[in-house]
Amino acid sequence: MKAVTVTDPNAGTAGMTLGERPEPHAAENDVVVRVRASGFTPGELTWPGTWTDRAGRDRTPSIPGHELAGVVASLGYGTTGLTVGQRVFGLADWTRDGTLAELVAVEARNLAPLPADVDFTTGASLPISGLTAWQGLFDHGRLHTGQSVLVHGAAGGVGSVVSQLAREAGAHVIGTGRAADRAAALEFGAHEFLDLEADDLGDVGQVDLVFDVIGGDIGARSAALVRPGGVLVTIAAPPEVRPAEGRAVFFVVEADRAQLAELAARVRDGRLRTRIGAVHPLEDAVKAFNPTARPTGKTIITIG
Ligand SMILES: NC(=O)c1ccc[n+]([C@@H]2O[C@H](COP(=O)([O-])OP(=O)(O)OC[C@H]3O[C@@H](n4cnc5c(N)ncnc54)[C@H](OP(=O)(O)O)[C@@H]3O)[C@@H](O)[C@H]2O)c1
Repeated sequence: MKAVTVTDPNAGTAGMTLGERPEPHAAENDVVVRVRASGFTPGELTWPGTWTDRAGRDRTPSIPGHELAGVVASLGYGTTGLTVGQRVFGLADWTRDGTLAELVAVEARNLAPLPADVDFTTGASLPISGLTAWQGLFDHGRLHTGQSVLVHGAAGGVGSVVSQLAREAGAHVIGTGRAADRAAALEFGAHEFLDLEADDLGDVGQVDLVFDVIGGDIGARSAALVRPGGVLVTIAAPPEVRPAEGRAVFFVVEADRAQLAELAARVRDGRLRTRIGAVHPLEDAVKAFNPTARPTGKTIITIG
């Protein structure tokens, strides 16, 4: 099969090539999916799991990309819940070969059915941003109606979904970003917008939940904005400063079939959309991983 591979952690994207790889084997409870659309994360070549398996052993050449939408090609021994030919989408394991390939083996529980009226490109754009937003707001942040949420990077991949889900849940949403992000952040559901480069973060006052996708100084200054009993949810890095009288949670997104289904249902009925940027065929995936300009929106690679 055709796949993009990386072999040398020190070479970064310079060591990335498109070539032939053996087809993946479906282990117990696995599904092999014929990938129709794949999403990658620009920073994933810095993740240990890109280079080693769960035991820390070298697993190169490895195939990047962890989001997928496609069609089930075969089932491993004992796999239930999905059938050959079914449209699916989800999150591939961090420490196994990924989705910039014609076929990928994924644990069945990491996938959910993709409704017929949600296209593959949209399906591949949903798993990381959607699950991260969902888990940060509801599992870790325990958000409920009437609370206030400060969303940093509200026009970005994760922030735009956080804003939509938080607003739908009945929260008051304050989005942040650069001046150029204002219109997009408001379109994605923020009630108000704060320009991190021009406005004073302290003017926000106290909020129930800060969802920080940026970290560094902005994350550190945000801890003071969490009201007693509130929570600072961070995803870029563990928090350097914690709220005085609230919780701080850093987490890594996990696959979850039920949550994927919730996200797909919202896309179907128009309550949720992802910010899709460039869409390229697999032949241009290496170039897409090395863009000359910073892309706006999620880059998706289509296959076949
Ligand atoms: N822990 C997890 O499970 C998890 C899951 C998903 C993502 N992440 C991480 O979370 C981060 C965000 O992911 P994403 O997909 O949402 O990225 P993204 O699409 O690039 O969104 C980030 C947004 O924040 C803005 N931003 C960044 N720094 C800023 C600053 N100093 N001032 C104002 N605005 C700023 C960006 O604007 P510009 O584009 O103009 O910089 C962009 O709009 C990444 O580091 C990613 O690796 C972690």
